Amino acid sequence: MNTAPLVDQFRRRISYLRLSVTDRCDLRCAYCMPERMKFLPKNEVLSLEELHRLSLAFIARGVTKLRLTGGEPLVRRDMIDLVSALGRKIGDGLDELTLTTNATQLETHAEALAKAGVRRVNVSLDTRDKAKFAELTRRDMLPKVLSGIAAAKEAGLKVKLNTVALKGINDGELPDLIAWAHGQGHSVTLIEVMPLGEIDGDRVDHYLPLTAVKDDLEERWTLAPSTHRTGGPARYFDIAETGGRLGLITPLTGNFCEGCNRLRVTTTGQLYPCLGGGERVDLRAALREDSSDTALNHAVDHALAIKPERHHFAINKAGEAPAQPRHMSVTGG
Ligand code: 5AD
Ligand code: SF4
Repeated sequence: MNTAPLVDQFRRRISYLRLSVTDRCDLRCAYCMPERMKFLPKNEVLSLEELHRLSLAFIARGVTKLRLTGGEPLVRRDMIDLVSALGRKIGDGLDELTLTTNATQLETHAEALAKAGVRRVNVSLDTRDKAKFAELTRRDMLPKVLSGIAAAKEAGLKVKLNTVALKGINDGELPDLIAWAHGQGHSVTLIEVMPLGEIDGDRVDHYLPLTAVKDDLEERWTLAPSTHRTGGPARYFDIAETGGRLGLITPLTGNFCEGCNRLRVTTTGQLYPCLGGGERVDLRAALREDSSDTALNHAVDHALAIKPERHHFAINKAGEAPAQPRHMSVTGG
């Protein structure tokens, strides 16, 4: 077994893997995908066994935190089997197994996730207004999502909300959403919309820099920079008045690459060392070529050698192609 630690060309130690388990989703968030999204054929997608093998190889090399993403991970039928299998590695290499989910099916699965060893989930929620939710996600599922979030809390899972800040859509609602979440004991992280994949319409119409949101929040509340770090892109603030924590992810107005500790693997087993870069290594070919994982580990070493120092995102102007052609739902959020 290859146990060589994962260190990139800039001496960043990689301990966090984000693995997209499906590109499919039961929502159609307007900034994420078009209504008529073309999903991948099944044979392109890594099998459950391949996802498991891949995860174990990364854990052997020092990945201590694994996040399953999508698309929506819980629309994949065999997901709970994978979570349970990986849950057995908690305490045996793995410190944390987490999920990013839209919560539409959390009511059904929260208990099973908790039982498998999951302690925290990231839930994507951009609005608590039923009509706005239906318009933004093109599906009228807010009640399901809210009961999913409640079920997660009930099952003892810590919930972190991810909210994409969208001008003209949820900007007026952000303080309320944050106050509500903090009141429920959930933390919130705000995200700037990123130019990933073709959508219907232009993202630039709704691009809202978080510098403006932060100024606005500071007129109402006291935001104290927090020492909390996850090795990720978010900067955190404690809000005195709500007693909760707020994260800000600013890919466009701030750079966060220096301490990057992560790699991402897409639904088809493509390793993208950087969300904002075009560098790519085909782990699926390596997995299928050689059952001993030698080819796989070679491919991973290559990815470490080409992981870029930083991303080069810029919000695309109206009519311009996105900076990266792949959708977040394929790369993994
Ligand atoms: N820009 C920013 N965030 C996005 N997400 C999906 N697509 C984009 C995009 N283009 C978000 C989802 C979810 C997280 C996984 O990524 O809303 O919260
Ligand atoms: Fe689905 Fe998440 Fe994309 Fe929305 S942002 S369509 S919930 S994958």
